[in-house]
Amino acid sequence: MSQRFYIETWGCQMNELDTQRMAGQLMQQGMLPTRVPAEADVILLNSCSVREKAEQKAYSRLGEYRLLKRENDRLRIGFCGCVAEQEGRRALSRVAELDFVLGTGRIGEMGRVLEECRRTGRRMVATGFPDDQHYDIDTIARDGQYKGMVTVIEGCNKRCTFCIVPTTRGAERCRPIAQILAEVRHLVGLGFVEIELLGQTVNHWREPGEEAGGRDFADLLEAVASLEAVRRLRFVTSYPRDFTPRMVETFARHENLCPYLHLPVQSGSDAVLRRMGRGYEIDSYLRLVDGLRKARPGIALSTDLIVGFPGETDQDFEATLALVHRVRFGSLFAFKYSPRPGTPALRLRDPEVPGEVADERLQRLFAAQSPIQRGLNEELVGKETEVLVTGWSKQPGYLTGRTGCHRVVHFAVGSRRPAPALGTLVEVRLTRANDHSLLAERVA
Ligand code: SAH
Ligand code: F3S
Repeated sequence: MSQRFYIETWGCQMNELDTQRMAGQLMQQGMLPTRVPAEADVILLNSCSVREKAEQKAYSRLGEYRLLKRENDRLRIGFCGCVAEQEGRRALSRVAELDFVLGTGRIGEMGRVLEECRRTGRRMVATGFPDDQHYDIDTIARDGQYKGMVTVIEGCNKRCTFCIVPTTRGAERCRPIAQILAEVRHLVGLGFVEIELLGQTVNHWREPGEEAGGRDFADLLEAVASLEAVRRLRFVTSYPRDFTPRMVETFARHENLCPYLHLPVQSGSDAVLRRMGRGYEIDSYLRLVDGLRKARPGIALSTDLIVGFPGETDQDFEATLALVHRVRFGSLFAFKYSPRPGTPALRLRDPEVPGEVADERLQRLFAAQSPIQRGLNEELVGKETEVLVTGWSKQPGYLTGRTGCHRVVHFAVGSRRPAPALGTLVEVRLTRANDHSLLAERVA
């Protein structure tokens, strides 16, 4: 019988893609995926360290997996992703049953590390960011995915004072445009209709090796959007300060560029933004929002917000609420500030915001957002739109999909027509709005 592997994935889309890359390498060695950890011969924890007790959570999960070794002495356990990058060799001494540690810059070496670990019986650590990283687009297990994700830039050179990503994902590395376009063509060849370009600061992409004045993200967008087979194009995550007027114009020119943009703002207060080291002010953020809405009327925006950053006053928080009312985001991801090891914010002398105050601010934010979001969804009722089918809904007989503007839509399959395949586009009429999703019916 073939050996089985099980991968648990936390965190962002980069981690999701890294999981697909690792799965692909294991499948190339003849292994098959399983959903049951107890059946697995290889268990990987692909960890995220961006918020809250990430380290404790990871170690406690490894503690659970390690018990499975008592039942299966062939089992190999690998610790991967951002916490693994941070912990390195320390993880081996903390968890005696751990077989290897694989950092975010070494994902392409998964197959080799496992093979070596099995052959020699030695425990292994692969972390850091070597210059010649393996990136093999043919060994990415894209099965079950409805969109094709393509990394265009890895790592991050910003120094947002709260953020651990520059440590866990290393310095910025851009992939050459030729490689990116080849991967996009490969994906549309496989039948993907939606392409998503990925990067921590995706719009900071530059053609590597070209001096200033060389091709930038606007050129890359233009090139990908011009490929006819790309029916839908998205990119995440954009850094507000790196958004240029040429990038904004692309939204006006290319219909396949989805009318949706995730534009993390983090706070509505200039004073807080300054201490976060974000390098922009609310005024310029709002000008960008207005520009985008002019280029593509109806574009949906989403954002990330942090509450309770050190020194955040009631007034600062009121400014964040005001921004939420002003922009009317289609969705909002809000987090309580969580101190991360080694980040510059730890050295700020501003007073900590008490936990209860931050909790209350978070609740007030969600309460403010809810009616805005429902209102925006209600404005869509009655409209016809295309959705990309992403999976079966919890309600029997219903499928779930996403509109171009990234709304979640549930619609009945109906008995008259065969159910559309996952990953295809279907035309629906939106019939009812909830806070977080819409109901729809299929149209001819
Ligand atoms: N550019 C990245 C940002 C990574 S972190 C991206 O691709 O999304 C994602 C979000 O987590 C950030 O936008 C921020 O809102 C939140 N976050 C990051 N560090 C945090 C911390 N220390 N405490 C709370 N939230 C944090
Ligand atoms: Fe983190 Fe700021 Fe980079 S939020 S990922 S340091 S852009």
